[in-house]
Amino acid sequence: MSELIIDSDIDIESEIKRLKKELNAVILAHYYQDSEIQDLADFVGDSLELSRKAKSTNADVIVFAGVHFMAETAKILNPNKLVLLPDLEAGCSLADSCPAPLFKNFRKQYPDHVSITYINCTAEVKALSDIICTSSNAEKIINQIPVDKPILFSPDRNLGKYLMKKTGRKMLLWDGSCIVHETFSERKIIDLKVQYPDAKIIAHPECEDALLNRADFIGSTSKLLSFILSDSSSNYIVVTEPGIIHQMEKIAPHKKFIAAPPEKNCNCNECPYMRLNTLEKLYLCMKDRKPEITLPDDIMVKALRPIERMLEMS
Ligand code: 13P
Ligand code: SF4
Repeated sequence: MSELIIDSDIDIESEIKRLKKELNAVILAHYYQDSEIQDLADFVGDSLELSRKAKSTNADVIVFAGVHFMAETAKILNPNKLVLLPDLEAGCSLADSCPAPLFKNFRKQYPDHVSITYINCTAEVKALSDIICTSSNAEKIINQIPVDKPILFSPDRNLGKYLMKKTGRKMLLWDGSCIVHETFSERKIIDLKVQYPDAKIIAHPECEDALLNRADFIGSTSKLLSFILSDSSSNYIVVTEPGIIHQMEKIAPHKKFIAAPPEKNCNCNECPYMRLNTLEKLYLCMKDRKPEITLPDDIMVKALRPIERMLEMS
């Protein structure tokens, strides 16, 4: 990666727009990115929508403003395209919690089980899975598995527990979790509810059970957005990464959105991986055409199958 020294005369936003034309690039951004990145992106979406966009784009270069597993998915869907990620260190605690060799052993222990794996995992783990899912389509996918077929669900135990309740299916869960969604303080959220009694609590299913039990609505990032748009309340306590509030305020400017606070006095409700991407790094990766996502061919071929199954089933 080139040094993060940028000439002060440069207008970074105009340069990004110019480079986008020069490279015939598309910028895909997740809702947890900084507002300025979201505003420059061609498309902002949840994990499922971003995969769909990556599959359908005619651009030669995909600039992925998100985390590593998302950019890898874009690469698997487009092996011949250049896929850039502003910071290669932008990982994910859920992906880290599920190393491929351990996952391989887990699968070996339960050969009769179908393996449904959350998209928040490495390409190697995808290559060892039967079907990938996101929080938008997991319920729909589980409901299509014959009732007599046992299921392994990996790597998020919180999402897994939530899906077991929603679908009534018993599943064997991998014991992983998201450091961001486990940081929210139930006590502080109850205090906020006292302060704003009419506020609805809306939460991402990666949160722990105790918090989900308090939520008025649970859904993926895109489902939280469509909920606040159609719902009649004026105030919401948003129990997910607060980057999404930028889009909420854009589509419903007359409503109030309160970011759920973490237990400690820190910014740990912000995803430390997502926030590694900055406007400066976005510019530099387009200027230098790196860092680039690269994967072994055999992993790409094997990982494509469960991603394609997800897209067919959702
Ligand atoms: P969504 O698919 O809901 O956007 O979630 C992605 C994610 O990483 C949540 O932490
Ligand atoms: Fe991973 Fe959690 Fe960050 Fe989402 S919020 S990318 S699950 S660490």
